[in-house]
Amino acid sequence: MTAPKLFSPGPIMVKENVRTALTHYDICHRSPEFEELFARATDKINKLFKADDSYRSVIISGSGTSSNETVLSSIFNEGEKVLLIRNGEFGQRLLEIIQKYEIPLVDCEFEWAEYPSIDRVEELLKANPDVKVIAMVYHETSTGMINPVKAVGELAKKYDKWFYVDCVSAAAGELIDVKDMNITFATSVGGKCLGAYPGSAYICGSKEALETLTSEMGKNVYLNLAKHYLKAEECNQTPNTPNVNLFWALDVALDNALADGGVEARVARYKECSGILREGLKKMGLKFLLEDEEKMSTTVTSVFLPEGKDLVQFINDMDAEGYTIYAGKGKYEAMGMFQVANMGEIYPDDCREFLKVIERVLA
Ligand SMILES: Cc1ncc(COP(=O)(O)O)c(C=O)c1O
Repeated sequence: MTAPKLFSPGPIMVKENVRTALTHYDICHRSPEFEELFARATDKINKLFKADDSYRSVIISGSGTSSNETVLSSIFNEGEKVLLIRNGEFGQRLLEIIQKYEIPLVDCEFEWAEYPSIDRVEELLKANPDVKVIAMVYHETSTGMINPVKAVGELAKKYDKWFYVDCVSAAAGELIDVKDMNITFATSVGGKCLGAYPGSAYICGSKEALETLTSEMGKNVYLNLAKHYLKAEECNQTPNTPNVNLFWALDVALDNALADGGVEARVARYKECSGILREGLKKMGLKFLLEDEEKMSTTVTSVFLPEGKDLVQFINDMDAEGYTIYAGKGKYEAMGMFQVANMGEIYPDDCREFLKVIERVLA
């Protein structure tokens, strides 16, 4: 078997030094060596989000959802409300968590792929002064849209709200500045734009907000943000046994992302790659879900197959050529939409090669 080329939005292909980091000798998570590793990695996560020391990052062993569920299940006292802005599958997943924990909700729903109206968000904030937290997804992966985080952050500041942003498919792929964007909590996971493995989720939170949390506010045992924060502050450890081995790989992936031009350089490479892919796909006459390319992320392109082509067949044919791509989610699947992602170890030449293959498969 040869390794598939992953043009899907996570897991991604990792750099060789990330893979070899997994072979590090085994250590105990209650050892000084782990504490140093944890402190190093969490400092670098702060840097990824341009956070200063008024923020603290923690690492949760779990998928991206575990970081989202940790925040949402930990930051509300009984009766406190969340205003959720959603316009796609991953906004809907936040809704699922909110409903599961019975958090009082002001639902600011938009059509999938509709750009959220800031006026409507502001109206809802005015009508619901008791909202504690505004929640939204940074990069709505199901459509490839970048949501207006900066503008919502300004409202969060104006109305004195906490602002929680699911950055799962945005961290290290878009230029995020938690301070400038007034973000209180940002979540993500290693196996996306950062170029690490799935299973290393992380949260960067404002210390001022974190200091107000108590473990009793947390609605579950494992994903309890107050516990994670206190343990991190006390001794750079985690409350339970973490996926220690993945920490080595996460730490190297963070070095890779912050080295040589930093996150800006990585975002520039992702932009160049998606630019090449989009130009090529357009030349083949394919149509995108999002008409305004300014609203498209640097890493995900949502494309419709030409009329009459079968999506399952197309994805299988690409698979046979060694390329993994995703079928569109929700209603888009039946409309013949597929998604091409350029996260992780993908470079301009890989994108040119991918275009040749897609052209051949479509012919
Ligand atoms: C924006 C966003 N949020 C949440 C998730 C869920 O992440 P996971 O599948 O790692 O739990 C994803 C996964 O693609 C995502 O793109």
